[in-house]
Amino acid sequence: MKLKRVRSEDIASLNSIVDLEKELFLDGGLNIWAIQPIAEYQFIYKYGQGDLCAYAILLSKVKDPKTVYLFSFGVAKNQQGKGVGKSFLKELRLELCSVGFTNLELTVASENKAALHLYKSQLEVLSKSFIKGCYGDGEDREKFVFKI
Ligand SMILES: CC(C)(COP(=O)(O)OP(=O)(O)OC[C@H]1O[C@@H](n2cnc3c(N)ncnc32)[C@H](O)[C@@H]1OP(=O)(O)O)[C@@H](O)C(=O)NCCC(=O)NCCS
Repeated sequence: MKLKRVRSEDIASLNSIVDLEKELFLDGGLNIWAIQPIAEYQFIYKYGQGDLCAYAILLSKVKDPKTVYLFSFGVAKNQQGKGVGKSFLKELRLELCSVGFTNLELTVASENKAALHLYKSQLEVLSKSFIKGCYGDGEDREKFVFKI
């Protein structure tokens, strides 16, 4: 599988990512109006061979230019549980290192066992905290800073 940065002109790939966002996050999924400017000014990667299999959306942290925030990360439902997330994360780390980032920040729901296991088994935890009501009542999140 290949990792590729998606540029803002590649509307077909961006629309495939919008479709995956809907599949994985339903109403919480980002639309093309949000994704296109992120591709222009921040970082979007796709992973797959032919069809899009997985994607990552990342934002650089203004207060700390060595840190990048993993805004969204997903594997198509029909490809989950086959090691794609793990190999994608490995490739993504190499790419982010080459761009100059040293730390990866993210939030994840405590119930999201697959994501928690993936991140914690692949990355060294630098710090961890709990954000109550991160996205409103009942939407708590665990926040991690990992070494890339
Ligand atoms: C989280 C996600 C990216 C994982 O991708 P994946 O391709 O299914 O994961 P992999 O097959 O590479 O598995 C990675 C590890 O997680 C483990 N795992 C997979 N599903 C699991 C589950 N439900 N509970 C616990 N561990 C799980 C695997 O056994 C594997 O562990 P190992 O390396 O020790 O063998 C994927 O499930 C996904 O896209 N989920 C929906 C979107 C999402 O929640 N994104 C993250 C938001 S923070």
